[in-house]
Amino acid sequence: MSSQISSKEYWTFRNQSNKKFTHGLHLYPARMHPEIARNIIFDYADDKRKIIIDPFVGSGGVLIEAMFHGNNSVGFDINPFAVLLTKVKTTIINPKRAEEEYLKILEKSKRDYRKGGFYPKLIPNNFDIKFWHKPNVIKKLSIIKHHLYNSDSNKKIVDFLKICLSLTVRISDNQRKSEYKNYRMDKDELKNFKPNVFDIFQEICQRNCQLASDFKNMMGGRDTKAIVTYGNALNFSENFKKLELDDSHGHLIMTSPPYGDHDTTVAYGQFSMHPGLWLDLQEFQLREVDRKCLGGQRKNDLKDMDLQSPRLALDLKEVIRRDPIRAQDVYSFFYDLDRSLEQFSKILKHGKSHLCFVVGNRNVRRVSIHTDEILIELGKKYDFKHLTTYPRSIPNKLMSVRNAPENIVNNSGKTMTEESIVLMKY
Ligand SMILES: C[S@@+](CC[C@H](N)C(=O)[O-])C[C@H]1O[C@@H](n2cnc3c(N)ncnc32)[C@H](O)[C@@H]1O
Repeated sequence: MSSQISSKEYWTFRNQSNKKFTHGLHLYPARMHPEIARNIIFDYADDKRKIIIDPFVGSGGVLIEAMFHGNNSVGFDINPFAVLLTKVKTTIINPKRAEEEYLKILEKSKRDYRKGGFYPKLIPNNFDIKFWHKPNVIKKLSIIKHHLYNSDSNKKIVDFLKICLSLTVRISDNQRKSEYKNYRMDKDELKNFKPNVFDIFQEICQRNCQLASDFKNMMGGRDTKAIVTYGNALNFSENFKKLELDDSHGHLIMTSPPYGDHDTTVAYGQFSMHPGLWLDLQEFQLREVDRKCLGGQRKNDLKDMDLQSPRLALDLKEVIRRDPIRAQDVYSFFYDLDRSLEQFSKILKHGKSHLCFVVGNRNVRRVSIHTDEILIELGKKYDFKHLTTYPRSIPNKLMSVRNAPENIVNNSGKTMTEESIVLMKY
């Protein structure tokens, strides 16, 4: 077993679906495979009174696994769409009610459409809607939204159906479907693209009701709480303390932080913008996501680049030689990561806590940035002791990890195919 657990294959979960239960309700960039969280929680949160924390909660996979295991959990994110999605994914609903409600909405919507219904006030006016959606799609989305907003179901069901509508927006829009960034389909593809919004909505709702039912069954009668809030990892300790939880039994921080450098890797803000605006989430928060992401604000002074990590110093030296501006980006990311580690150390119960980060070593200007080793060195300053690192292959992550730093065709760097699962004790 011990040799098995150290093998890349063990942690790859190549043949295991990552879309079971509410894990599969909606797309989100760079989702962690739920089996990773499941295994780590099983090993490091044996005591069910431990609190599981994901400070970069994304679409909430870690919290779902914490619920299955029987631990209370907390998640923060600076992306309001991620917060809503995680709330929905960690809320038990009555799937029969949700099914009845979506069928009602669909029937009213179809009737309304036949009569020429249209709700221009419900259409977001803060992005170039005609560029991203066909006219008929806009019309039908506005009708579904109208009937959903006028539903007399409880908030849990309405939020659940909002997530179904969001995915309908995404599937029926003019964006290339193989990307998380906002690129429009080319002319030919667009000409042949004739999405039927009502059918798409129905299919998504049907599938999601089944997933919600599987989630409810999996939970049995367990009463574990998942708290999800909008919050920045850089103010983590303040936000966490406000929750006033009984944390005397320790914590497990289980997360995958952003990769940094969202221009060339994953742009969470860009991905969430259109669905978020359709759902009337706070526009200023949506627009701030990529800037607030770790490393989103460039630190300009190269002289100060010292975070007491020899590995980072070596990697930076190499990047500076090739491109000082990109070196500032790399430094800015680790500067923020360092600050967030300091924040985490302020609330963790000493001697009873663990931290597990799933990270990728990306390339910048063809220099490999050893994020896993740097993380360990930064952690030492705050008394995190490295236990072990498991490598894993990334089987089929849909993301733009193809680093094309020079933005020159055929000159893209190596695609990230491996990650490290770094375990530390506090
Ligand atoms: C790799 S994703 C997390 C994926 C998540 N583990 C999942 O399975 O869906 C990283 C998340 O960190 C969030 N994030 C980035 N910078 C943040 C910050 N400073 N504070 C809180 N969240 C942040 C992003 O919005 C994104 O949702």
